[in-house]
Amino acid sequence: MRILVVGSGAREHAIVHALHREDAPEGHELHAAPGNPGIARLATLHDVDPMDSRGVAGLATELGADLVVVGPEAPLVAGVADAVREAGIACFGPSAQAAALEGSKAFAKDVMAAAGVPTAMAHVCTTEQQVVDALDAFGPPYVVKDDGLAAGKGVVVTSDRDEALAHARACLVRRAQDEAAVVIEEFLDGPEVSLFCLSDGTTVVPLAPAQDFKRALDGDQGPNTGGMGAYSPLPWAPQDLVAEVVERVAQPTVDEMHRRGTPFAGVLYCGLALTSRGVRVIEFNARFGDPETQVVLARLATPLAEVLLAAATGHLADQPPLRWLDDAAVTVVLAAHGYPGTVRAGDEVAGVDDAEELAGVHVLHAGTSADDDGRLVSSGGRVLSVVGVGPDLAVARETAYAGLALIELRGAHHRSDIAATMPTL
Ligand code: AMP
Ligand code: GLY
Repeated sequence: MRILVVGSGAREHAIVHALHREDAPEGHELHAAPGNPGIARLATLHDVDPMDSRGVAGLATELGADLVVVGPEAPLVAGVADAVREAGIACFGPSAQAAALEGSKAFAKDVMAAAGVPTAMAHVCTTEQQVVDALDAFGPPYVVKDDGLAAGKGVVVTSDRDEALAHARACLVRRAQDEAAVVIEEFLDGPEVSLFCLSDGTTVVPLAPAQDFKRALDGDQGPNTGGMGAYSPLPWAPQDLVAEVVERVAQPTVDEMHRRGTPFAGVLYCGLALTSRGVRVIEFNARFGDPETQVVLARLATPLAEVLLAAATGHLADQPPLRWLDDAAVTVVLAAHGYPGTVRAGDEVAGVDDAEELAGVHVLHAGTSADDDGRLVSSGGRVLSVVGVGPDLAVARETAYAGLALIELRGAHHRSDIAATMPTL
């Protein structure tokens, strides 16, 4: 199959890595736009901006692609998948209208209410007075979310009322031009789980659940980030969790989107809290999660291309059940100096090949680029995702950290407690 993957992060590298290793008779012909230096080893890169719908659709046409896979949320919300489909090419990724499940938290809340999906109670506020009333109605800890896309950084969870109010004000001001809105939510206690559900607009096929570590520092301290590490499987989670989430969350949401005439085809990322009162949706995303994809796809035994094509073309119901390796996977993100604040770029990244020589280790690139002398340098917040695969989580974790230890990047930081302790329910 000739496949174009759109995006340049470790998630897209994980997708390309999974497509590359599968045992298709002649392999796949892989392309990426714009990709990164890690992806360049497995696919042909094209200098096309993921946000340029016409550019992406034009490239897919020129290549004669059989399938386009759109990785990040911003191009989906901007309608890149629509443009590709209009060009007559199968695309894995929801339409702009369906991607609003991620693009607008207020829209997602509306769909969940209509579909009877359990989630945190929330008030969508457009004035400061509404914010004050909502904060005081819920009490601490306060959860304040920017309504629009914010790369995982638009959410503040705090017991400090002034901090909550300041974040809400900033959201209202930032969005003042277009309908400003901030969402104030009930705090959900309990461990978080990410479950990716593939859908062709009708059928839902869940992948294996994973856990992400969103905070910057060990012990879940520090600011929220895009994600600092992940692991899968979740030995502590209830056996019937996946079935329950499909039945109570993913299928009703997909059905509601279908009913509204905006079917959701792609991956519905269910961000969940397992609270004392049951499963609740924290958020939906309209794409694979990063870094959870790095561990989930490392464990998938079924060839990925067939499944993504089936989702893109309305044939998921015809697919045999997914097969999984018995292995566990852990990934640790190496972040640049300053992340998630202002990051420093241009530091040399060394030792990636040494890390990859370790059995069970592969290194996925995100914020890397090649400088004028061809050296690998940092060029973004999350620089690398080091993945360790092993027979159980303890071995996978040791493997990932052994790989990470061989990589040098001045001023970099990472969490040292990914998959170290498991939650209790
Ligand atoms: P979101 O961007 O909505 O996923 O939020 C980012 C992170 O903030 C989540 O992964 C949670 O750790 C935390 N969070 C969001 N909403 C809530 C909530 N209602 N209760 C507790 N924590 C939350
Ligand atoms: N891992 C969190 C996200 O992809 O949004």
